[in-house]
Amino acid sequence: MGDALLVIDEGTTSTRAMLFAPGGRCLDWQAEELTQHYPQAGWVEHDATEIWTKSARCALAMVDAAGGAERIAAIGITNQRETIVFWDKTTGAPLAPAIVWQDRRSAAICRELKDRGEEPGVQARTGLLLDPYFSGTKIAWAMANFPQLREAGNRLAIGTVESWLVWKLTANQTGGGLHITDATNASRTLLMGLGSGGWSDGLIDLFDAPREALPEIVDCAGRFGETTLFGGRIPVCGLAGDQQAATIGQACLAKGETKATFGTGAFVLTNAGTSPPSSKHRLLSTVLWQFGGRRSYAIEGSVFVAGSVVKWLRDSLGLIGSADETEALARSVADNGGVYFVPALTGLGAPWWEPEARGAISGLSLASTRAHVVRAALEAMAHQSHDLKTAFAADGADWSRLRIDGGMVANGWIAQDLADMLAIPVERPAFTETTALGAAMLAGVGCGMFAGLDEGAAAMRGEVEVFEPRLEAGVRDARLAGWQAAVRAVIG
Ligand code: G3P
Repeated sequence: MGDALLVIDEGTTSTRAMLFAPGGRCLDWQAEELTQHYPQAGWVEHDATEIWTKSARCALAMVDAAGGAERIAAIGITNQRETIVFWDKTTGAPLAPAIVWQDRRSAAICRELKDRGEEPGVQARTGLLLDPYFSGTKIAWAMANFPQLREAGNRLAIGTVESWLVWKLTANQTGGGLHITDATNASRTLLMGLGSGGWSDGLIDLFDAPREALPEIVDCAGRFGETTLFGGRIPVCGLAGDQQAATIGQACLAKGETKATFGTGAFVLTNAGTSPPSSKHRLLSTVLWQFGGRRSYAIEGSVFVAGSVVKWLRDSLGLIGSADETEALARSVADNGGVYFVPALTGLGAPWWEPEARGAISGLSLASTRAHVVRAALEAMAHQSHDLKTAFAADGADWSRLRIDGGMVANGWIAQDLADMLAIPVERPAFTETTALGAAMLAGVGCGMFAGLDEGAAAMRGEVEVFEPRLEAGVRDARLAGWQAAVRAVIG
């Protein structure tokens, strides 16, 4: 058997496969963009078949690059979380569009449950809040609005994206794949008890989810099953939601260690140890990993719009030709010129949780240029992160340093702005695809290559660059005051 680790990293805007050597070197990678469907304002859908075929194509390219299936020790899967897939257990075909984590269609269900006073109980059991972000209310909406799901009866399978990919990877010609989900992804559904690690009957009733359509909840590492689709047998050995995988890939293995990933959205996770934390400041409690049925937890701040604002500036406004231009544009002006950008393009997540908030660009004048607007959009990353830091501190989990990653932080201006606005050192690894790296570590643990995550991180994690804060406090405070006023105008 070979020793390469194959990762499938199925994100919101693209799906990727990467090949890692046991020492952490990325040997090769392949990516394909995913089609985003916006059937109505606030709705976001993916085609689950496209997710599967593009993921499989990227994985096959990596198997070929490795020199065949026998060169690969294990597969690790990491994924956009909360996005929910509905499929037929007999045909393996999707029964409805996948409803994406950004989708706000279940806002009315959330409002009604909140009005009934359900949120405190839901938060105590799941660590989550009543927001359309999480899978449970999407399932409730789908069961009420897609008649084919009820009609499918016990043929219906429901799962998050890793669950769907495992099913497809392990399905044989007569259908019938493995129907599992890992505890990190399950902890994002609103259906799992955070302390018990099992589906909760009370929550299943609350969200009207069909119990028999749900997958079995498993660990993040182990020999879950094999795929024979790539010309040989390869075991699937690692599973985790992408933000948990990035936390592992950043080696936040001790309590208090914190990472922020700036991908489509921005997600900050602090390792909270082995007891479920409980937030009093609108942050989330979530499973960080599970091994041997035992869980570690994280406190999470989820920001819905990060890299997607740059994509929006490029694709919808045509203000830039490519994401790479943003760094030079931000540097081309001395400051934001009074322009603030609240990127509530899909509502606001933590710590405000305003699903119906809409974005705003404020402070415009005749002196404002394209560079000011672009700079304001980039500054919003540090502004949103600052609001999260304040909430984490209020929950007793302030950050003393922050490890950053994700596509956006290739932009050195953003990395420095984060250090300046958070007033703490910010560390950027030389290899910023830490989500995939974390999934590789899990696959390595699952196939027995590493005894545990400490060994995996020691073997695979590379160099980091540190950005020290250097902005004057007065300038920083003035910027934060401008941001806070802009947010207040958006949420009323
Ligand atoms: O919770 C949503 C998150 O998992 C999406 O991650 O990397 O697609 O922005 P990403």
